[in-house]
Amino acid sequence: MPTPNEILTELRKIRYPGLSRDIVSFGMVKDIEVAQRGVTVMLSAPTTKPEVIERIVEEVKRSVSAIEGVPAVEVNVERAPTPRSAAALPRQPIPGVKRVLAVASGKGGVGKSTVAVNLALAIASLGRKVGLMDADVYGPSVAMMVGADERVRITEARRIVPLERFGIRYVSMALFVDEETAIIWRGPMVTKLESEFLFNVEWGDLDCLVLDLPPGTGDAQLTITQRVALDGGIIVTTPQEIALLDVRRGIAMFREVGVPVLGVVENLSYHLCRKCGARHEIFAHGGGARLAGELGVPFLGELPIVRELREGGDHARPLVAIDPENSMSIRMREIAAQALAAMKV
Ligand SMILES: Nc1ncnc2c1ncn2[C@@H]1O[C@H](COP(=O)(O)OP(=O)(O)OP(=O)(O)O)[C@@H](O)[C@H]1O
Ligand SMILES: [Mg+2]
Repeated sequence: MPTPNEILTELRKIRYPGLSRDIVSFGMVKDIEVAQRGVTVMLSAPTTKPEVIERIVEEVKRSVSAIEGVPAVEVNVERAPTPRSAAALPRQPIPGVKRVLAVASGKGGVGKSTVAVNLALAIASLGRKVGLMDADVYGPSVAMMVGADERVRITEARRIVPLERFGIRYVSMALFVDEETAIIWRGPMVTKLESEFLFNVEWGDLDCLVLDLPPGTGDAQLTITQRVALDGGIIVTTPQEIALLDVRRGIAMFREVGVPVLGVVENLSYHLCRKCGARHEIFAHGGGARLAGELGVPFLGELPIVRELREGGDHARPLVAIDPENSMSIRMREIAAQALAAMKV
């Protein structure tokens, strides 16, 4: 008979459908019992979708019965509360904050932070009170985009006072943790702290808080989406096929945790290689719109390559705030209006 640990090793090979994460790290495996008559695996299901659970149960049965010496396998599924009702536990609303909007991307460098910053500014320009949180400690580009270099004040009650920039409130854990420390802490620790950090900010009354999630759809993103009560997710992509593949993952991630996908934004029609600086030209247009249609989520629009957008980002002069009549700024306001309407705020 195998040990529970050996069984766990096998279970780690089973991917959660639609996510780049296995069922063990997802926290689905609650217990493994090895007895004479066979192996019992206790799963907790984070979703109510029966077909997903069924698929996982099948895979667990197949994988455990393939281990030598296992006479029989039983899989018990304990239904976890659905993500929405689970909000009562660690998944909390942020006091004073009406809506939380997360900007995600399947991969890095697609302009997620650029979209998050300019979208936050566009929402503010529509007369809403807006906060912006950079949840990407490893690539804190938002700080540069909004020019956040001062020290953050802490109140007597040990709450964090966000910085004010261009009429929005901004905070990032990167203002407290240098890059080196963040790298040492890498992984779950940072994300866990980060979601707690988010609740310790003196946001005041906000109509909308925009979260710039770290790129990808792995553990870090999931942790945040599981802990913070999100009202909507936006996925930023570029038009090339490879990026579009990740859009599926992004949508799957939000859907798994019960967060409405507000839509897909297609940014840039070329890929700028971050290592060699080469510009790989021009990919077929319209992939984002097609895919959004296919997956049943709104398409929020295409954003062109605008040099001022990059320059603005590099010099803490975000385009929407600096040049509100620029075509990109107009686009951003349209996207902002759609997002607000979808979140009813
Ligand atoms: N539409 C655009 N036109 C021109 N430049 C852009 C556009 N969108 C983003 N950029 C530039 O591309 C670079 C990458 O953008 P950004 O930092 O927003 O991407 P990201 O997805 O947040 O990346 P990371 O994975 O590093 O967090 C930046 O220099 C940004 O100014
Ligand atoms: Mg970024």
